[in-house]
Amino acid sequence: MVRTLEGKKILLGITGSIAAYKAVEILRELQRRGADVYTAVTPNTLEFVSEVVLRTLSGHSVYKEIVPKENPEIRHTSLASLVDLFIVAPATGNTIAKIACGIADNPVTASALAIGKGIICPAMNVKMYENPATVDNIELLRKRGYVIVDSDEGELACGVRGKGRLAKVETIVEAVEDYFIPKFLRGKKVVVTAGPTREYIDPVRFISNPSSGKMGYEIAKVARAAGASVTLISGKTCLDAPSGMNFIEVETVDEMRSAVIENIKGADVYISAAAIGDYRPVKRSESKIKKGAGRLVIEFERTPDILSEVAEGKLARFIVGFAAETDNLIENARKKLKSKKIDMVVANDVKGKVFGKDETECVIVGENFEEKVSGSKRKVALEILKLISQKL
Ligand SMILES: Cc1cc2nc3c(=O)[nH]c(=O)nc-3n(C[C@H](O)[C@H](O)[C@H](O)COP(=O)(O)O)c2cc1C
Repeated sequence: MVRTLEGKKILLGITGSIAAYKAVEILRELQRRGADVYTAVTPNTLEFVSEVVLRTLSGHSVYKEIVPKENPEIRHTSLASLVDLFIVAPATGNTIAKIACGIADNPVTASALAIGKGIICPAMNVKMYENPATVDNIELLRKRGYVIVDSDEGELACGVRGKGRLAKVETIVEAVEDYFIPKFLRGKKVVVTAGPTREYIDPVRFISNPSSGKMGYEIAKVARAAGASVTLISGKTCLDAPSGMNFIEVETVDEMRSAVIENIKGADVYISAAAIGDYRPVKRSESKIKKGAGRLVIEFERTPDILSEVAEGKLARFIVGFAAETDNLIENARKKLKSKKIDMVVANDVKGKVFGKDETECVIVGENFEEKVSGSKRKVALEILKLISQKL
């Protein structure tokens, strides 16, 4: 587990929602990433989740009364200056309304008024969620600078289907990690390609590669967190489509090329992190090729070179390519930089089984710089984007 929240103090406000038990999971995940988590509750919360659980797991007293009988040092104002982030998860319709109005009648709402910013994760029945009062309150909080982690659609505790479920724990934790990323790409348009391409031999067989898409997805997500407007064009992967960006799924190189050309207009940065196939079968059989006794010979041709097309047409201000190499990493990266006339190459040594892993090791090569980066793909994504923003 990468300790992305090391040294951060977080106040987790929990309210009287059936999803309150998930706050315990959120607390644990934040701690696993290195955060020190404090909890604040409304008078209703402890009907849904036990104080003993919150106190034991957080290692701190639960802030449960405006005037605490024990630990009088815990107050909304002292917590406001102590913590780096305030998050309400789950946030009931009632608490959201109170925060929007500036009511401060319990530890969660008083903390909100004292801190005035943070992350709100709504959770409620679909009728409550779609009520114009809630819609307006959430919009008001968004306008005031709160980050809203939108509810998911699905089966709700009351048995109906609809929007209102608390977002997934991973999504909430990712929003917390994103909160701490400086907004160095605000106003910039970034287009990223990720994942493998597939070239079909017949309707049931294709040639592809083991790219998981993780590196490109991390770049797209970190760019979003850094304030960019992001388009992610991805081959088929097992990863969830990230929210808050223009996500386009493709299969073949031709589809990827069309999506790039259609979406690149006005881009500040183009990052080609996809493992785009260099060859495809000359002929795609319309029906399944029957198994025979002898060998099967397939003739391949080159696929269109999307990166070169983007570079030659200067379709983005800053163009970054990835190079998966098994030998002479830096030398080959420099060759690619020159031959493709691009601004930066991120070279991976794929002998070290980088495909599908959460960690990577690479060298970022530009005309007059060279930087080694290693660690989680998220950390590497941040380093790559910081370097790009300096060179832009
Ligand atoms: C079993 C049960 C589950 C509830 N779940 C939710 C919920 O998920 N979201 C919500 O907004 N209200 C929910 N409520 C209603 C809130 O508990 C109620 O509005 C309460 O006033 C919220 O108080 P608080 O925001 O101060 O915690 C639920 C009530 C009950 C009895």
